[in-house]
Amino acid sequence: MTQALNSARLEALDVERLPPHWDGSIDSVLLQRATAQALLSIDRNLRHFGDDFPAPSSSGLQYPAIGNIEWTNGFWTGMLWLAYELTGAPHYRAGAERQVRSFHARQAGRQHTNHHDLGFLYSLSCVASHRLTGDPLAAEAALGAARLLLERYLPHAGIIQAWGELSDPAQQGRMIIDCNLNLPLLYWASEHSGEAAFRAAADSHIEAAARHIVRPDGSTFHTFFFDPASGRPLQGNTHQGFADDSCWSRGQAWGISGFPLVYRYNGNARLLQLAKVLANYFLNRLPADGICYWDLVFTSGGEERDSSAAAIAACGLLELEATLADDDPLRPAYRRAAIGIVQELSASYLVRDAAPGSGLLQHAVYHKPQGIGVDECCIWGDYFYLEALTRLQRNWRPYW
Ligand code: GLY
Repeated sequence: MTQALNSARLEALDVERLPPHWDGSIDSVLLQRATAQALLSIDRNLRHFGDDFPAPSSSGLQYPAIGNIEWTNGFWTGMLWLAYELTGAPHYRAGAERQVRSFHARQAGRQHTNHHDLGFLYSLSCVASHRLTGDPLAAEAALGAARLLLERYLPHAGIIQAWGELSDPAQQGRMIIDCNLNLPLLYWASEHSGEAAFRAAADSHIEAAARHIVRPDGSTFHTFFFDPASGRPLQGNTHQGFADDSCWSRGQAWGISGFPLVYRYNGNARLLQLAKVLANYFLNRLPADGICYWDLVFTSGGEERDSSAAAIAACGLLELEATLADDDPLRPAYRRAAIGIVQELSASYLVRDAAPGSGLLQHAVYHKPQGIGVDECCIWGDYFYLEALTRLQRNWRPYW
C-alpha cells in the first residue's frame, strides 16, 4: 500500500482547540450513572419491543418498532450483549439469543441481505454471540452472512459494492467508507472457516478505501465509484454529507474506527497511520463543546450535531489508544478526547424523561439531505455510546 496512503497529510493535532476541561480525568460517578441510565433504557425497551427491533432513527425521540429488515438491527442486539457483559444478567442474554435466531433465519432466507451492511448486522449479533457463549448456530449464521457479503466483491475493482443489485447502473462499482466496519466479519469468517477468500477480499477493499476514499488533506469522501468492468477508479461523491467535497462527520468516524479494527486482523501498520490522519482532521474541526456537527464543514452556528458520529469516533479513538505503540505521541491526546466526548455526551446529550421506545442518545442525524432522522436518536449512536462507556470501564474485546 500505496501512494495516496503515504501522501495523505497528518495535520498537527491542535490540542488547544479541545475543550479545556477535557483533561483526561475520568468522572467515575458520571460514567456509572450514565451506564445505569443506559441499562434502564435497555430494560424498558426490551419489554417494549419484545421480538421486534427499534427502527434506525427515532421520531420525536421514540423509535418505531420494525421487524428484522434494516441494516441497523444488529445494533440493538449488540446493546443486549454489552448489557450482558456489563452485568451478567441472564435476561439480556436470553433477549440477544432470541434475536440471534432471527438473524440466522434472515441470512438463510436471504431476506433483506442485498447490501454490504452484513458486517454491522452479524458482527454485533452473531459473532458477538459466538465469542461470548460459543453458540454454533450463531457461528453458522455469521459465516452464512459473510458468504453473502463476499458475493458483492467485484474482482476487477477489488471492492465490495455497497448498495443495490450488482447490475444496477446507479450503484455499480460504488464503495463507501462505512464498509470499513463490515470488513471484520470477513476476517472473522476466514479465521473461523480457514477459507482465505474472505480475508483476500477484505484486504483488497481496505486498500482501495485507503487509496481512494481518503483525500490528500486527511478528509474522506463518503462514497467512491469504480468502473466494475475495468476496475478503473472514477470519482468520489457524497450521499449523506453536505457536499461532494465536504467531509461527512459520520463517514470520517467510520474511518477513524474502521481502519484500526481492520488493523487488528491484518496487522498493516499503515492503517493505523491513516486512522491518525483521519482522527486529527476530525478533532481539529470540533465546535466549542467538542461534539461534531453532522458535517465537518460546519464548526459553529445552528446546524445540527451528530452525536452518533461523536460516539463512533470516541470508540475509534479508544481503539487507536489500545493499538498504538505506548510511546506514540498522539496516544494520550486520543484518550483525552475520547473521555471528553463520552463525558460530554453523558452530561448533555442523553434523552431526558424517557418512555418505552425512547432512544438513549439524542441530537443525532441519520440523513440530513433527505430529512430523515434529523436531530433525533439513531440506534447506532446508542450502541456506540454504550460501547464507548464499556471500553472506558473495562478491558473489552470488540465484537468486530
Ligand atoms: N451506514 C449508514 C450510515 O451511517 O448512515
